[in-house]
Amino acid sequence: MGNGRVSQVLARQYDRISERLERGIGGPQLRTTLVGDLTGRVVEIGAGTGRNLPYYSKADHVVAVEPSSGMRSQLMGKIDSAAPAVEVIDATGERLPFEDEEFDAAVSFLLLCVVDDLDGVLTEIHRVLKPGGRLSFFEHVRDVGRRGRTQDLTSPLLRRVQFGCRPNRRSIERMQALGFEVQVSDPPVPIKPRPPFSGPYFTGTAIRR
Ligand SMILES: C[S@@+](CC[C@H](N)C(=O)[O-])C[C@H]1O[C@@H](n2cnc3c(N)ncnc32)[C@H](O)[C@@H]1O
Repeated sequence: MGNGRVSQVLARQYDRISERLERGIGGPQLRTTLVGDLTGRVVEIGAGTGRNLPYYSKADHVVAVEPSSGMRSQLMGKIDSAAPAVEVIDATGERLPFEDEEFDAAVSFLLLCVVDDLDGVLTEIHRVLKPGGRLSFFEHVRDVGRRGRTQDLTSPLLRRVQFGCRPNRRSIERMQALGFEVQVSDPPVPIKPRPPFSGPYFTGTAIRR
């Protein structure tokens, strides 16, 4: 999601669209599971309109990184009602403007499918986490078998019509390859109705070793 006119309009509609889509996955429960236990300094990459902010009940300080100006302006409107102190930063996950080992935890929620450079973002998250710090995530990844091969074929097209989302990202494999110890929900998060192109969807934690 960039900073063009379509992105500005989408940002204004994002909460309404997400609420409808998240009915099938129990959005509030999912977001509570994802961020509710995080403590200390937390960085959320691709924070969007700030839909996770109400669920940070134990964090001291949340830094919300979001490159889209439309999303950031929606996010700013939620800061006062958020539980911890929140700072909003205009940056991308590929170039995080932070020192090494600055954060106790990081969060990604439907981010890794849209970033331009998956390894670059995961490397940056690894760098800014303290040793033992965790990335708490909700992401969809490439499926196995025929569905996975179909995702490979359709990803270039879907990326154009689904705001940059690539269904064939091997995000969990890349986390492991880049030095995270990963635990994922088993079975995957059930989504109803099942999205025709994307998934499986997982919540999980990736610990910086
Ligand atoms: C599908 S939305 C998810 C928003 C939010 N995480 C949520 O929980 O609803 C993906 C977000 O990632 C942002 N984004 C896209 N590319 C990014 C990048 N390279 N680095 C950081 N954020 C990015 C988009 O602007 C958008 O706000």
